[in-house]
Amino acid sequence: MFAFMENNAFREYTHGLVLAPMAGSTDSAFRRICRRMGATAVVTEMVAAAGLSRKSVKSHKLLRFHPEEKPIGVQLFGKRPGDFERAAELVSGMDFDFIDINAGCPVKKVVNSGSGSALLRNIPALTAIVRAVSSQTSLPGTVKIRIGWSPAEPVLDSLPAILADEGAAAIAVHGRYRSDMFAGEVRKREIEKIVRNSPVPVIANGDSRSVSDALDLIDSTGAAGLMIGRGSLGNPWIFRGLLSGKPEDASPLPEEVVSVIWQQYKWMSEYIPESHLYHVLRGQLLNYIRGFRGAAALRGKAVGVDSREDLSDILSELEELLKTERHT
Ligand SMILES: Cc1cc2nc3c(=O)[nH]c(=O)nc-3n(C[C@H](O)[C@H](O)[C@H](O)COP(=O)(O)O)c2cc1C
Repeated sequence: MFAFMENNAFREYTHGLVLAPMAGSTDSAFRRICRRMGATAVVTEMVAAAGLSRKSVKSHKLLRFHPEEKPIGVQLFGKRPGDFERAAELVSGMDFDFIDINAGCPVKKVVNSGSGSALLRNIPALTAIVRAVSSQTSLPGTVKIRIGWSPAEPVLDSLPAILADEGAAAIAVHGRYRSDMFAGEVRKREIEKIVRNSPVPVIANGDSRSVSDALDLIDSTGAAGLMIGRGSLGNPWIFRGLLSGKPEDASPLPEEVVSVIWQQYKWMSEYIPESHLYHVLRGQLLNYIRGFRGAAALRGKAVGVDSREDLSDILSELEELLKTERHT
């Protein structure tokens, strides 16, 4: 499967199994876990182009990554081409493999500022941004879009060619309109149309919660690559299952779950100060504690995790509950 992948960093993004950028979830440690599980490329959480150009510490922290994560793209969001120009120049020296432009985020605050999916309604701004990035870097520039603003305002058939003309080397498509937010079924036919209209590789995204969902998305859209978001949270093994083609590889043993969480914790503790560590860990931990008997009560404990000892207790209980689940 995925025999079309070659040993070429950017091709691992365009024709591979990619971990989607998810603000607040896909930090360096989780991306590293996913790469080890078989994700062929990863993308940073979205980073404000304006924040980078004014040297905001918060934005700069989001650029941190480990060499093991490569190939990695940095995703920028914003609305002013000048900010993207400065940001692209800055990140070009940081060993990223590509620069991705966010034209899909549906969140009100982002959209109201003219960024994210608002760019789908402002093609002059979007093209100026792609041009600004292309002019400042020799790295491939990519764009992550949705299928349109709403069913009444789908993306133009010519959009992929317009973006490619400005220098976009690939397009990732989340198969929803902005008006769908994250709900409703992914619209595969709309992705397929974008694939047909695009002169550059398209990476399909949306609702791959299992190996069969993911294979179906690739088959029904004809996309070059696949991007997985929420289906990987608490289940990075989905990449292992996809890579081997065996759905059972996407179901980890209880001890594998616990050892991956320990690994993630260890990597997080290398760059998150102790004062923040357990707060950030909570969110990650909760992703793993769901879908089995006893999960609700254990989640109650996980939200209070405040020390290594707490984590150790929670993980012992998690392993026991998962073992019981497997034997019933
Ligand atoms: C919590 C969360 C944060 C997200 N953050 C980003 C982001 O920073 N940049 C981006 O392009 N998309 C972001 N997305 C969208 C995902 O990349 C993806 O397009 C979407 O979740 C659909 O794919 P999925 O069904 O596989 O999750 C986010 C999604 C979620 C759920």
